[in-house]
Amino acid sequence: MSADNPQVVWHAHAVDRQRREQLMGHRGVVLWFTGLSGSGKSTVANLVDELLHQQGVHTMLLDGDNIRHGLCAGPNLLQAEHGAEFAQRFGLGFGPMDREENIRRVGALAAILASSGLIVLTAFVSPYRRDRQRVRQWIESQGQASDFIEVFVDAPLEVCESRDPKGLYKQARAGKIANFTGISDPYEAPVNPEIHLLSAERNPRELAEDVVQWLKQHAMLG
Ligand code: ADX
Repeated sequence: MSADNPQVVWHAHAVDRQRREQLMGHRGVVLWFTGLSGSGKSTVANLVDELLHQQGVHTMLLDGDNIRHGLCAGPNLLQAEHGAEFAQRFGLGFGPMDREENIRRVGALAAILASSGLIVLTAFVSPYRRDRQRVRQWIESQGQASDFIEVFVDAPLEVCESRDPKGLYKQARAGKIANFTGISDPYEAPVNPEIHLLSAERNPRELAEDVVQWLKQHAMLG
């Protein structure tokens, strides 16, 4: 990708990715968890993170709710310190373009972290196929084709809605939250994910172990 401004030029670093990965003892890749709110993305990603960390694997977890406190803060969070115009321009909500920018920023960050040799776990609803596809292309363009591992955390809407851990489905049904994924905004399921977890049928621990197993089978843990 070329920069907007021809004076902004991409530099090769003295310490390259290969050397960083050698020091870590494994490749840097991105495990991209996607699924409905309440499907178990964060829970399973957290467990995978814990299992890998225990095994001495270098990881970083990026979680939607946390990232929306900082890198992808909403307008209300930004307004006090930066003012109304800034909050309006850069604060992210849940409209289609806000989600597109959320996923673009997170994808760019995940690519940087993966190029440092970390196994990056991301847990975002990331409901739009096109946005996930763009992240895949960006991450693969920074490394190699198998660097982006899509993990579909698949639970039926009825199950996610009955869990409703944050009470958001109830509010969405009552019309108090707009553009709520699964209710008033679409979720475009992955067509061919590298890992497909049926999260209504098995417990989070088993699902996390499946992911670690997959990484071992694909020689991703060094
Ligand atoms: S994404 O669609 O842009 O990928 P992200 O994962 O960052 O979403 O944030 C989703 C979290 O925000 C959900 O787990 C839920 O707690 C909360 N949330 C608040 N409003 C919405 C909404 N309209 N749609 C989906 N999630 C929402």
